[in-house]
Amino acid sequence: MIPTENALLKTIPASRFLYVKTFGCQMNEYDSLRVQRILHCQGYALTSDMASADIIFLNTCSVREKAEQKVHSFLGRLRHMKAQRPELKIVVGGCVAQQLGRQLLERFEHLDLVLGTRGIAAIGELLEAIQETKHRLAHLPDEEAPRHSYEQHLTPVPGTVAVTAPVTIMQGCDNYCTYCIVPYVRGRERSRPVEEILREIQALTASGVREILLLGQNVNSYGRGLDEKTGFVDLLHRIQTETEVGRLRFTTSHPKDLTADLIQCFADLPCLCKRLHLPVQAGSDSVLSRMNRGYTAAQYVEKILALRQACPDMAVSADVMVGFPGETEDDFRKTLQLLEAVQFDNLFSFRYSDRPYAKSSEFPDKVDAQTKGRRLSELQHLQAGITLLKNQMEVGSIREILVEGPSHAANGQLSGRTSQNRVVNFDGSKGLIGQTIYVKIVAAFSHSLKGEAGLQRGNA
Ligand code: SAH
Ligand code: SF4
Ligand code: F3S
Repeated sequence: MIPTENALLKTIPASRFLYVKTFGCQMNEYDSLRVQRILHCQGYALTSDMASADIIFLNTCSVREKAEQKVHSFLGRLRHMKAQRPELKIVVGGCVAQQLGRQLLERFEHLDLVLGTRGIAAIGELLEAIQETKHRLAHLPDEEAPRHSYEQHLTPVPGTVAVTAPVTIMQGCDNYCTYCIVPYVRGRERSRPVEEILREIQALTASGVREILLLGQNVNSYGRGLDEKTGFVDLLHRIQTETEVGRLRFTTSHPKDLTADLIQCFADLPCLCKRLHLPVQAGSDSVLSRMNRGYTAAQYVEKILALRQACPDMAVSADVMVGFPGETEDDFRKTLQLLEAVQFDNLFSFRYSDRPYAKSSEFPDKVDAQTKGRRLSELQHLQAGITLLKNQMEVGSIREILVEGPSHAANGQLSGRTSQNRVVNFDGSKGLIGQTIYVKIVAAFSHSLKGEAGLQRGNA
């Protein structure tokens, strides 16, 4: 009889250790979890101590220049460790691996294996191969390579089950925003079959996961190219009716593909959390057009209004960048005006940087570093005030939170999140982890709220 994956997970005792360092977006977090699951089946347990690891796996991000630099400096620091312990295997995956491929092996002679973004599933076999042959390898399957199945590694590693788990529903991106490297390193958009996604969610909830985060660079266009005619809205409905998920979130959505049907889901689907991350990038139409975003600032604001009308309790966050080539002071002011108009609950803001393959790296009128810095701090100052005010408006309200674990402040408190994704810290016993409870919000800070528990239980 072929043992099931569950049986394997229980029977193989860990004798070797894996250290994972993940840079970049949640899609990399998801791939890192898959690497843990695959290598767990080969007897590797996760360690937080790099010095005792047999394998170091770096999952890398290339979206901004600074993100890529972090990877290079991290790799540089591993040189010494490899010299002292030649049997240590160092593996680099993710978007920098895809971008640089063999060049990484040439530049860092202490690297053993480079895995492109479509090569993660092969990590187990390739590690065995390099251990046997002592050869260093770069594995970069191209777009035409058969789509790897996720079926084999759907079950979380026992003992590592968190309250929230990510599930990638699509890979790649076809949008080609002019500043962005993602379509080149993650390839064309490809959706996972619905049944496979449902099975993964079922496996996760059966293991104790309460909240699922659906991932993709543009989840709204989910389903294009699948045999079965299922769009993103259908997928959300099927998750609501066919799984046990308590809470559902998704990221990222593209404003041009945010339909009225999807907006309605926030009002109709009880499991869907009332929070939307909708990157806007800029408030000036001329910048948005040169970015190839496919909407105007007014159209963006209209979608936010429609969202708030359908669901008044909705929280909205976005990504925005400053210093896109040709961004004038007037363009930048329009971004500030948009922030004032929309009043985002939270914002992620970046300095533009040129990226390989991205069209905008050839655009004229680059904005100098000093101007970018000044614009970024002005924008962040404005948003910090809005975020704090929005948090303060929560004080006195009673909110339902899903309790996730100990607070990051390590002060003995527990931490959970509201449907709107606000972090609430409170005093409570560990038995509450994984439960949905009501808390009264008693204080507000820049990045979190303070709550008081002891109220009646919710049952999400
Ligand atoms: N798919 C998402 C986000 C992808 S990358 C979307 O469509 O918005 C995450 C964020 O990084 C982007 O939203 C953008 O704000 C930022 N980003 C991407 N390329 C960048 C670049 N070249 N310079 C600075 N920021 C960039
Ligand atoms: Fe990049 Fe645009 Fe695709 Fe987002 S939608 S990943 S910003 S190309
Ligand atoms: Fe970075 Fe790749 Fe994600 S470039 S943002 S890790 S898709």
